[in-house]
Amino acid sequence: MKPRIFVTRAIFPDVLDRLRTHFDVLDNQEDTPLASDEFVRRMAGRQGVLSNTSDRIDAAIIAQLPELKAVCNMAVGYNNLDVPALTAAGIVATNTPDILTESTADFGWALLMATARRVTESEHWLRAGKWSKWSYDLFLGADVHGRTLGILGMGRIGQAIARRAAGFGMTILYHNRSRLDAAIEQQLGARYVSKAELLQQADHLMLVLPYSAESHHAIGAAELAQMKPTATLVNLARGGIVDDAALAAALRERKIFAAGLDVFEGEPQVHPDLLTVPNIVLTPHIASATEATRRGMANLAADNLIAALGLGPHAGKPPT
Ligand code: DGY
Repeated sequence: MKPRIFVTRAIFPDVLDRLRTHFDVLDNQEDTPLASDEFVRRMAGRQGVLSNTSDRIDAAIIAQLPELKAVCNMAVGYNNLDVPALTAAGIVATNTPDILTESTADFGWALLMATARRVTESEHWLRAGKWSKWSYDLFLGADVHGRTLGILGMGRIGQAIARRAAGFGMTILYHNRSRLDAAIEQQLGARYVSKAELLQQADHLMLVLPYSAESHHAIGAAELAQMKPTATLVNLARGGIVDDAALAAALRERKIFAAGLDVFEGEPQVHPDLLTVPNIVLTPHIASATEATRRGMANLAADNLIAALGLGPHAGKPPT
């Protein structure tokens, strides 16, 4: 008998078909995030799950799923999973690193450029029919080339963002839980600084650190107050790292120049104050959303499930 799995959200149909060759698959055809009790109901008697960042799988849920053996998240971030509780229960937990690094870094740059150069704000203005003449001071933005890029969180994505900054002739500063090897710092042309120094010196600050209890509201009113009034802030990482209400206030009071956010605390809800400030670019958690990358993530999560449940050509390969 095939092992039984649940796919919590819609994925590429061909990847779902591939999973069906290995597993008895239940998929969530409504493609809506599920409340915990509904998730547990659909998971009953299933050994594996292909999950998503909106599926919270914690100790209380794990306790109700004695047959569960593998949780394979289709995301690099796994703050939706209680990893210690999964490990204690002997359940394999996997994510999809590497495959999304470059597309996510590309999008970080798209957000940074759009934020600094007021791309969406000026487009909305134009679409509203307000453009009647050229003016020397129309939508003056902040330069990116030659400025100082601050990166908070220097993992794979942070490093990919830093590599791109070389083409813009930027000074690169970073802060991370642990300092990179000197050889990598040299390759990237990046200098390690304290968080305070990063906040004070960055012309453009990019957040790419994982979400955890320690990084909750790592950027709040006190941190925003340390930034330059001309600085921009981009959050590519997770909502909850930024205190959205404090950010909206800082933008309104021009304590910083502008912000670009791809992630929000409590998404898909967006703090209403963020919707009322003009100097912000808002996108719906799409940093990894290219056809090739999302397909790669889905296939990697599927391979991880196949390996974790010991089946097919991927059996015996350690999951990611
Ligand atoms: C991730 O992979 O963690 C991205 O945020 C997409 O969900």
